[in-house]
Amino acid sequence: MILPIYIYGLPVLRKPTEEIDENYEGLQQLIRDMYETLRKSEGVGLAAPQVGLGIRMAVVDLDIMSDERPEFKGYFKTFINPYIEETAGEITTYEEGCLSFPGIHEKINRPDKVRVTWYDENFQFHDEWFEGFPARVVQHEFDHLDGKCFIDRMSPLRRQMNKSRLNALASGKVACDYKFKAVR
Ligand code: NI
Repeated sequence: MILPIYIYGLPVLRKPTEEIDENYEGLQQLIRDMYETLRKSEGVGLAAPQVGLGIRMAVVDLDIMSDERPEFKGYFKTFINPYIEETAGEITTYEEGCLSFPGIHEKINRPDKVRVTWYDENFQFHDEWFEGFPARVVQHEFDHLDGKCFIDRMSPLRRQMNKSRLNALASGKVACDYKFKAVR
């Protein structure tokens, strides 16, 4: 089932999430729905608050890029209760967008390597390093789980430059070609 994507301005995007366990009702269906929703909107990552749920989980689908980046063929990762344990490497800059902020793209600085602990969809524990693009994506998604958004990491100037667009989104003026839910 395709879920509506919650747009900036809705309070759930600003609330820290709660951990879940394997008894969370409907979890496997939710995971399937999140992958389906993500693919339909042509994004690479989707966090639970973006579908209106205050729970600590996110899905990442880099397989969608595998025509250009064959190393990402079959790259689907479900992150339950994930945490960034440490970061390393250089600070890199990359242009990010977010399905909850249609039309807004900005360069964001982040560390190039992160060590993440999480549980997968079978509640198997993982402790792994991510580097490069996957590291960027997980950092963006896990910010959502702390009630943060990529606009919080923009420079004050760039945020000011995007102010009218942000205000439009937060007042329900949204144009995008996927199913969404906005203020009003
Ligand atoms: Ni996002």
